[in-house]
Amino acid sequence: MANTILIGAQWGDEGKGKIIDVLTESADLVVRYQGGNNAGHTVELPSGKYILHLVPSGILRPGCRCVIGNGVVVDPVALVEELQGLERVGIDVAGRFFISDRAHMVLPYHKQLDELREDLKGVGKIGTTKRGIGPAYGDKAARVGIRMGDLLNPALFRARLKDRLVEINDIFRAHGWEEISDRKLADEMLEATESLLPMITDTVAIVQKALSDRSGILLEGAQGTLLDIDMGTYPFVTSSNTTSAGACSGAGLPPHRIDDVIGVMKAYTTRVGEGPFPTEDQDLSAHFHGMGREFGATTGRPRRCGWLDSVALRFSSQVNGLDRIALTNLDGLDTLETIKIATCYEVNGRRIDQFPADIDTLRQCVPVYEELPGWGEDTSGCDDWNALPENARAYLARIEEITGARVTIVSVGPRRDQTMFR
Ligand code: GDP
Ligand code: IMO
Ligand code: MG
Repeated sequence: MANTILIGAQWGDEGKGKIIDVLTESADLVVRYQGGNNAGHTVELPSGKYILHLVPSGILRPGCRCVIGNGVVVDPVALVEELQGLERVGIDVAGRFFISDRAHMVLPYHKQLDELREDLKGVGKIGTTKRGIGPAYGDKAARVGIRMGDLLNPALFRARLKDRLVEINDIFRAHGWEEISDRKLADEMLEATESLLPMITDTVAIVQKALSDRSGILLEGAQGTLLDIDMGTYPFVTSSNTTSAGACSGAGLPPHRIDDVIGVMKAYTTRVGEGPFPTEDQDLSAHFHGMGREFGATTGRPRRCGWLDSVALRFSSQVNGLDRIALTNLDGLDTLETIKIATCYEVNGRRIDQFPADIDTLRQCVPVYEELPGWGEDTSGCDDWNALPENARAYLARIEEITGARVTIVSVGPRRDQTMFR
């Protein structure tokens, strides 16, 4: 079995949850390696619609083992609620769900700081999910974070929390907020997380065992390439490495053991939150929202929608080393007469085809479009690659040309059976 990284090739919400679910039919181990409950991965099964935030999407396959890796930031209270939700619908995670002892915790003050920083930024806000992700990764980098493994040693957990709250309470006082009592917060957290303790372990050992057994690991990315802390539209990004490179450090496996990198991309582009988005198109947004599509799975916010962007996709293919592409939401374009793809940008009278690092430049970029004819047919019932409308296949071929990666999976609806392989 291959070790496969699956990442979002755009700004998140590409349909990673659906594709992971399809690919886990035979997978033994699925690992989340970055992000936190800012993610919302949707899987639609005959038994209902599931939105997973922290738990890997493989959990819906009974035999599949799932790991929250060291690179994830875990809000333990949100995780307990998510697990209770799964239990209520009969999904048993006992003995097959593990949480890294190295994973950093998102604590209530991280969420308060996330909100505070957004408020202070005012119109320049990032539009975060307010799940405390940035402040928790900030603490990790500043070496003042508290890790899931600390919960296993309550005395140590209490001491670390007490130390950390000195600075946090300074900030809270400065804003006229009520100070946090270290004892009260420690009591609350230790009580709320008791059910998680048996699942907290050294998950690097689980990953390494899967490598030596050659059982195959599916590494489930969250967010998307253009939200990567290094490669994305900084500072309008999330706080982790969402690109394929993040999988190795966030799960504990070496790069040379990766066999396959799959980029999940929508047949168009969406973005939720603030930040530059050159191919954004108000009419296309209205088109999708009118169909009841493209509302965020985590926050319910309407997603901004736009055309495919070759400049961004080529960059994404390069930095991730995409071997292949899973294209989702092809059916979203079914009724459009003409479909546009940005081939390059025009900025200050010059044409460029390299994705700019600087958002001020990116904001000035005007996409240069090519137009392709639509197919005017409902593809949502299509189950044979060769039966896809000719213009739809031409669109896929164009995407392969742009990215240099082969499209091997096409999705035409949220369900498992609305998926084609080649
Ligand atoms: P993720 O964060 O990448 O897992 O994506 P989300 O779950 O946030 O958003 C993707 C949305 O598209 C979800 O509502 C999915 O059920 C839905 N979806 C995925 N693939 C398809 C598809 O091919 N067609 C349609 N119509 N919906 C899809
Ligand atoms: P999945 O895994 C889409 C966006 C937020 C905001 C920025 C920073 O479902 O694809 P954060 O809360 O991470 O500090 O917010 O990143 N964002 C996402 N957008 N899909 C996601 O996850 C996202 N997770 C964060 O909207 O713009
Ligand atoms: Mg999502």
